[in-house]
Amino acid sequence: MSIIIKGGTVVTASQSYQADVYCEGGVIKAIGKDLDVPSGAEVIDAGGQLVMPGGIDPHTHMQLPFMGTVASEDFFTGTAAGLAGGTTMIIDFVIPNPQQRIMDAYKQWREWSEKSCSSYSFHVAITWWDETVYQDMGTLVNEEGVNSFKHFMAYKNAIMADDEVLYNSFSRSLELGAMPTCHAENGELVFQLQKKLLAMGMTGPEAHPLSRPPAAEAEAANRAIKLADVIGVPLYLVHVSTQDALEEITRARSNGQRVYGECLAGHLMLDDSVYLDSNFERAAAHVMSPPFRSKHHQAALWKGLQSGNLQTTATDHCCFCAEQKAAGKDDFSLIPNGTAGIEDRMTVLWTHGVGTGKLTPEEFVAITSTNSAKIFNIHPRKGSIQVGADADIVIWDPEATKTISVKTHHQNIDFNIFEGMEVKGVPSHTISMGRLLYKDGELRAEKNTGTYIKRPAFRPIFSALDKIAKAKQPTPVKRS
Ligand code: URP
Ligand code: ZN
Ligand code: ZN
Repeated sequence: MSIIIKGGTVVTASQSYQADVYCEGGVIKAIGKDLDVPSGAEVIDAGGQLVMPGGIDPHTHMQLPFMGTVASEDFFTGTAAGLAGGTTMIIDFVIPNPQQRIMDAYKQWREWSEKSCSSYSFHVAITWWDETVYQDMGTLVNEEGVNSFKHFMAYKNAIMADDEVLYNSFSRSLELGAMPTCHAENGELVFQLQKKLLAMGMTGPEAHPLSRPPAAEAEAANRAIKLADVIGVPLYLVHVSTQDALEEITRARSNGQRVYGECLAGHLMLDDSVYLDSNFERAAAHVMSPPFRSKHHQAALWKGLQSGNLQTTATDHCCFCAEQKAAGKDDFSLIPNGTAGIEDRMTVLWTHGVGTGKLTPEEFVAITSTNSAKIFNIHPRKGSIQVGADADIVIWDPEATKTISVKTHHQNIDFNIFEGMEVKGVPSHTISMGRLLYKDGELRAEKNTGTYIKRPAFRPIFSALDKIAKAKQPTPVKRS
């Protein structure tokens, strides 16, 4: 199948220009003005529209077994919903149970993800430590194309990584040239606050944000950053939701530390008043961690994106329907944590980022696609419009509008946190590895057609870091 996109404006993270784009064999074959139409090529008229790299969502959880249930969105429905919203690649998470061999969990997730219909890849969570974990991290990096490891500093008595696990895994990541990533919340503090609130009779969703205060996030962010600094490894913090954690990142970066921050479309748009809704179902539908925060945090996150101290945007797409959320009817700490957004991230960020002047179209491309590709070492194969890159392309109509609704979304969940939001700027076509899979509202996704993307280790950055670490190495004092 070959496709030629005629008459659009190509927008990358660095420039915008008029050009046609020709895709063949899953890759971009030619870019230029007035390209001839090769015989048999499907022609897409992109006049008045923007031709951008498909979105990369670096944080999703399709069919995740979590908190006694399994996320309702599977790898097919989730990647299909992504395509409807202009996202052509996800990086999901393998999350082994403590004591489970991590290679076994990885194989299980690879099997589940075969039904995907776009590009996908995995971070692997380190939830415990022993010699097999050390070995399996090596196998994952050297043979399976995994270059990032995730650490949940929250979820005590489940998947929480303590400082010993963090130390060992960060050190091993440095050896391997892999990126450690963290969900930064002090899990012990959250656990104690949950117990205290429940004992006070606060059993409803309004207690959820009280059990996870901004300080719990800031402390964990700071701890992870300091551990990474001592060990000499880069660090990526997922779903940064507070001004406090952002300040930790900003300070570390200004000290020359290689720390990256991700924020979620949900945290940029919603505030913690959602937990005060008197309707349990609606309040519980917003329970995710870290929780939605008060408005000043949202303003700080936008500034974080504008200043470049936050580099990526994600969704943490993790769907639980009302009947699943009901598990926490009498105890907020049992409400499965997670909200959806893969289909809406791009349009919400365009509307509220580019539409308000906070971001340029090029910055939009950077924060929705290119920066994730760079940080996770798949650029320029992904996240770029250039000859030789995968033909992962979204054709964006900046004038088209729609109203986001659970009634029309493709996501497999009975709630939409952006319900009723009017957006301007939506995808008209989404192309995944050269296949036109979304066209003017029609989704043509098919199961088992996606591609697992290997991500190589980060040798150049890490060898530079190694030099710095060696220069700092202590020498023993000679004593007689
Ligand atoms: O509430 C959330 N975020 N659920 C998914 C697991 C995680 O913490 O990322
Ligand atoms: Zn998390
Ligand atoms: Zn997550």
